[in-house]
Amino acid sequence: MPRERFGEDHTFLPRRAYLSFDEIQKVVDACKPVGLEKVRITGGEPLLRPNLEELVSSLKGSGVEVALTTNASLLAGQAERLAEAGLDRVTVSLDALDPKTHAQMTDSSIPVETVLDGIDAAVSAGLSPVKVNCVIQKGVNEDQVVPLVERFRGTGVTVRFIEYMDVGRTNGWQLAQVVPSADILDFLQKRFDLTPIDPINPSDVARRWAHSDGSGEIGFISSVSKPFCGDCVRARLSADGRLHTCLFSSGGHDLRAIINNDGNEQTLSDAIAAIWSRRDDRYSEIRSLETSVLPRVEMSYIGG
Ligand SMILES: C[S@@+](CC[C@H](N)C(=O)[O-])C[C@H]1O[C@@H](n2cnc3c(N)ncnc32)[C@H](O)[C@@H]1O
Repeated sequence: MPRERFGEDHTFLPRRAYLSFDEIQKVVDACKPVGLEKVRITGGEPLLRPNLEELVSSLKGSGVEVALTTNASLLAGQAERLAEAGLDRVTVSLDALDPKTHAQMTDSSIPVETVLDGIDAAVSAGLSPVKVNCVIQKGVNEDQVVPLVERFRGTGVTVRFIEYMDVGRTNGWQLAQVVPSADILDFLQKRFDLTPIDPINPSDVARRWAHSDGSGEIGFISSVSKPFCGDCVRARLSADGRLHTCLFSSGGHDLRAIINNDGNEQTLSDAIAAIWSRRDDRYSEIRSLETSVLPRVEMSYIGG
């Protein structure tokens, strides 16, 4: 959320425009008959939402797996109660251990130690396997790759390197800023003895490598160099009730009217199934100069 665009005078959505926990639950219940198994709560920053553990507990009541992606600035104080509410797993975004690079990339004064404390709290609360998502940008944080791997080796925390993507319009993305996963893997193989782990599901986005001495694993998400649109099974629900069938879609489908007008789970389920079955998104596979000018939702609206 760049400061120039989301400054102090920015008009954010009023709280009443957010889906309530009940409305989110209705969407999840309606998605279950059409195959939903996992829910990831992301953002924005999900830990800013008051009483998030109530949503976790209610979602768990539907029998889905519940995970969370967070910047961990508030995780240390919430990990235990989220775990008690039934949260299964946590992913933390951390692009650098170096304080200056971290401050530059997050444009915030939240210390790296606060994020590391949050990760420790998640491990202690049993929210495992805790994953750390790290987006590497050429010339910005490439020097953080080895320190991040070394910091989490032997801790049970998996570091995953994500290729920098052209999501939204505000990050000024250029292909030249992308560091391909293959380059990071080559680099790491010179320092660590790594062996590939066979994928479990075709929809697993990360390719996994293990330290041969059993001290943990590393993941690579190659969304730019090796797009996986064909195996993507993720639907994204925005805070104001829009269903996006792709990270790179524009407007999304407004579910709010159907959630509230009818109250009938079957109608909502049918509407979602209809949207999903018509989906033909494959932005990452057809990325080009022509597609790059199409409108796209910002990452801060649908959470990655
Ligand atoms: C947008 S954040 C939202 C959740 C939460 N606020 C957080 O910081 O984890 C979700 C994930 O998207 C990743 N991400 C953000 N911008 C990205 C980009 N341009 N390319 C690839 N991943 C990106 C972040 O690293 C993070 O792990």
